[in-house]
This record gives sequence, structure tokens and C-alpha cells, in this order.
Amino acid sequence: MAYSDKVLDHYENPRNVGAFDKGDDTVGTGMVGAPACGDVMKLQIKVGADGVIEDAKFKTYGCGSAIASSSLVTEWVKGKTLDQALAIKNTQIAEELALPPVKIHCSILAEDAIKAAVQDYKTRHGAGESKEAA
Ligand code: FES
Ligand code: FES
Repeated sequence: MAYSDKVLDHYENPRNVGAFDKGDDTVGTGMVGAPACGDVMKLQIKVGADGVIEDAKFKTYGCGSAIASSSLVTEWVKGKTLDQALAIKNTQIAEELALPPVKIHCSILAEDAIKAAVQDYKTRHGAGESKEAA
């Protein structure tokens, strides 16, 4: 299957590969797996005192589309609030990367990874399921 130029670009030059210290309490970590193919994505956000995501990193063991999806979302979440990050939809990722239907689950993995990272951050900061700490 042919990958789109955008997928290839992110695959060959992935942005923000790496990891933050999990013990850092400004960091939220999301780790999700795709039941469809067994691939794993770890995505971390670093949140500033103002509640804005300053930085993000990922490690993905998966196909080119999964790597491109995680690379793209680490770029997208920077400068966003936690709630804005939660609003990112896999359909936006799939559209930006021109993913074919068989690769849609790769973008869902990236959406799930962001949600998991934000939830981890909120849990560690004593916020409830859906409310953000003021
Ligand atoms: Fe698992 Fe593509 S088959 S990432
Ligand atoms: Fe499974 Fe891409 S994450 S094929």
C-alpha cells in the first residue's frame, strides 16, 4: 500500500521521539495498544503551570501510519490546553495524513494515547474524571 507524502515525511523525520521522566509531576503519560494489530504507542505531555502543554514526546512500536499519527499529534498538542488536546479527533489526524480506511485504527491509537496522557496528568493532580483542576 502506498503511504501519503505526509505519512512518509513524519515516518522518515518523526517529530518529538523520546520520553520524559515519568516521575516528573508536570508530565502525563499515556500508553495504549491497538487490538487490531498489537502495536503500542506511548505518548507523554509536559504541562506548564498555566495548564498549557509545553512539550510532548512519543515512542511508537507500530506501522508507518501509527508513527506518523503520533508524530503529528505531538506537534498539535503543543500550545494547547488539556481540554483542547482532548478535543483532537482521530478523524482530523486521518484527514491530515490522508490515511486509507485500513489505517484508520492507527489514528485512533493516537487519539487514545493523548486522552490517556491527559487523564494520567489529571489523575496525578487530583482532578476528577472530566474536570480540570482550576
Ligand atoms: Fe500493526 Fe501496522 S500492522 S502497525
Ligand atoms: Fe496498527 Fe497501524 S497501528 S496498522
